Amino acid sequence: MKLLHRLAGALASLSFALLAHAAEMPRIETRDGRHALIVDGAPYLMLGAQVHNSSNYPGALKKVWPAVHELGANTVSVPVAWEQLEPREGHFDFSFVDQLLKEARENKVRLVLLWFATWKNTSPQYVPEWVKFDNRRFPRMREADGKISYCFSPFGAETLKADSRAFTALMAHLKKIDGEQHTVIMVQVENEAGTWGLDRDYGPEAEAAFKQAVPAEVLAHQPAKLAASGNWSQVYGDYAAQYFHSYAIARYIGVVAKAGRAAFDIPLYVNNALRDSTPPAKVWAKDFSSGGPTWDVIGIYKAAAPQVDVVAPDVYGPESKGFIATLDAFQRPDNALFVAEISNAAAYARYAYPALGRGSIGIVPFGIDYFPYSNFPLGAKSSDKAMVEPWARVYRGFAPMARLWARLSFEGKTYGVAEGDDHGDQRIAMKGWKASVTFGQWQFGEKDWPGNKKEAPAWATTLQGGAAIAQTGPDEFLIVGQRARIRIDAADGANAMIGRAEEGRFDAQGRWVMERVWNGDQTDWGLNLGEEPTTLKVKMGRY
Ligand code: DGJ
Repeated sequence: MKLLHRLAGALASLSFALLAHAAEMPRIETRDGRHALIVDGAPYLMLGAQVHNSSNYPGALKKVWPAVHELGANTVSVPVAWEQLEPREGHFDFSFVDQLLKEARENKVRLVLLWFATWKNTSPQYVPEWVKFDNRRFPRMREADGKISYCFSPFGAETLKADSRAFTALMAHLKKIDGEQHTVIMVQVENEAGTWGLDRDYGPEAEAAFKQAVPAEVLAHQPAKLAASGNWSQVYGDYAAQYFHSYAIARYIGVVAKAGRAAFDIPLYVNNALRDSTPPAKVWAKDFSSGGPTWDVIGIYKAAAPQVDVVAPDVYGPESKGFIATLDAFQRPDNALFVAEISNAAAYARYAYPALGRGSIGIVPFGIDYFPYSNFPLGAKSSDKAMVEPWARVYRGFAPMARLWARLSFEGKTYGVAEGDDHGDQRIAMKGWKASVTFGQWQFGEKDWPGNKKEAPAWATTLQGGAAIAQTGPDEFLIVGQRARIRIDAADGANAMIGRAEEGRFDAQGRWVMERVWNGDQTDWGLNLGEEPTTLKVKMGRY
């Protein structure tokens, strides 16, 4: 009897502990310049899937879940449009949000909601019709000669009020239906804000503001180009128009975010249609959307929208050097790296290795649902299993150890590389050890052996290779990767060799299950990972 009582007591405190964690709000935590998305009390690795733009209706969801399951995603990003939430002013319709949360829970995935409102790829196409066509109340930007722009003005006081009110209604509703469960773990405010073809608003209010002194909080966050203080032109010279427009939009988003967060305090982020990520940033020349949260104005967004946790890149450029430059540009002590959107085309799947290896809180391929629509040439040509499979393969490697990986990443112990466009060799510097990662070769022998040279493997010309390594101890490594050869050597060139290399997997409880020990042919020529991601635990030693 006593034993039963004790058991019941232990069970009660265990379920209390679980509940306490579940009740913990999702948040971004920062330590030593690194960041983690905390979900249910621990770092979370988002293996995401973003649905198509028009899949935000209950009837569309049936084409979403099969793709999400085949991908093996743990989180789904779905738009919630202002036009569907408030079709008539002051009348809110939460039926899609309710249905979405219900189905997400049934399908055992978390959600990221995307607030499509004043800006969707810069356009007001998702605002309700009562907003869309009322230029007097909801003004559009003006060009220098007074011509009207397609894009809404960030100085529209009524637009800001109305957008904030609708966003707050959404967040308050989430608190009501999700305040305990946290199915929704992040919300994106607007979508790719900014303006194409016009550097800033030239309407009367904008003109007056442009002549004012640059606010102190901007000066504190965004390095000056010409002068330590003064008006926008005096401080930022040729960059003044873009920076001013960024500040105007960031401030607007900041007001929306602050109001929403006061209703329900979960992480918020903005996403960005990229400009060239290689510094130095050149003066705007109609080559990117001005005012958007591009990497060069992250400081302005931090200053003007402090309630937004993360400025995130949307990646649709295939070039490997550009991808790494983008990771470098968005990963900062004041900004968590988060690949909020990336093309679903097969060649991009390998980029999960450097993204998650370098500390991204997640990665989210775009257009993951079986709605018969493809955004080729940005993404895959088809909307079917063939589109999902290259990404599913990578997720099969990370999913069983997602929580562990998120923790190791937050501790700064993870690294990752992807096969470059030139298929060239890569190096990873770790603590006391270095890894070389090479691609496109047979698993036995060296590339330049006559027999190996005679016939290259089929994967020598594809772009599938990638590897991520976590240094789990002074001489221990957890490796996941595909189509790559990895060699680990002592950083100082000392004699070293593998002590033990186990291939295995993590079970549902997160325990390591060893399947075989690699030795002989399997280690003589480096650790050669095949098409399906392989997980290895490797112990090195010096002699
Ligand atoms: C990036 C946007 O954020 C998405 O909503 C979508 O329009 C893609 N571009 C293109 O398919």
